[in-house]
Amino acid sequence: MMKSEDYAQGDAFQAEKRTVFSTQALPLCADGQLARPGDFVSATVGGWSVFAVRDKEGAVHVLRNACRHQNMQVVSTPAGNCESFRCRFHGWTYDLQGRFLSAPPPMAPKDLQSPDLHLASLPTAVASGIVFFSLAGSPAPVDVGALPAYSGTVVTEIACNWKVCVEHLLAEHTPSANFTWAWPLLMVRRAGAMTIMEQVVPHTFLRTRLFTHVFGGVADDSKQAAATIKNVCEALQHDRASGKLAADGTLVDDFHRRLAEAYAEDRPAT
Ligand code: FES
Repeated sequence: MMKSEDYAQGDAFQAEKRTVFSTQALPLCADGQLARPGDFVSATVGGWSVFAVRDKEGAVHVLRNACRHQNMQVVSTPAGNCESFRCRFHGWTYDLQGRFLSAPPPMAPKDLQSPDLHLASLPTAVASGIVFFSLAGSPAPVDVGALPAYSGTVVTEIACNWKVCVEHLLAEHTPSANFTWAWPLLMVRRAGAMTIMEQVVPHTFLRTRLFTHVFGGVADDSKQAAATIKNVCEALQHDRASGKLAADGTLVDDFHRRLAEAYAEDRPAT
């Protein structure tokens, strides 16, 4: 049974970071957002600061966004293109695979050959047009069948807890050939020749980013729908914080059951 504070306080988010987001394959971005070598997308997913980058050979890497000098964020913009990554704090630089390249002499590490100087690389898989990573073992592939060509991604920032957004996106659906939910963060809808994937990015406990990835259509056509999702979720966040919890529904019930299992792993029984 969900409680109001699970949506409105940081404790539940910390529990989710230790359970849900430490053990599952998590989506990070669309493969198509990394079209060219040097393209990157960074995000904090369930409290884990990471970024995906395409290297010069075309491979995609997901790296921890934590400089090996003093653990500060190396990538501070949500997306872009670069030849290498330079930490703005003291100038350590890394290549597109996260390998340490150089540092200014006063800041240079003693052992320039140490493997500990490279950014931590996470198990990565590209499946169904999406880049997945995992903190624990190889991400299990998610198969949603054949996809039309990637058309683009609409990015929406929402002032709500990530669970409010997932509940809203699941609420009107039951599992079917045209709707797939890949627990915990990805919903796939098929509508005629078009496939839309809604990817929830739990940034902080009250900040959520929604990626609407469009395949086989025009990405800008999804902007209005994404704006509506934002407005509805921000109103629902207010409801949750004031004690009005989500209505039942097949997938919402399943979501709550899985969350309860995750919380039980983390919280001692009372
Ligand atoms: S923290 Fe990155 S160079 Fe010092």
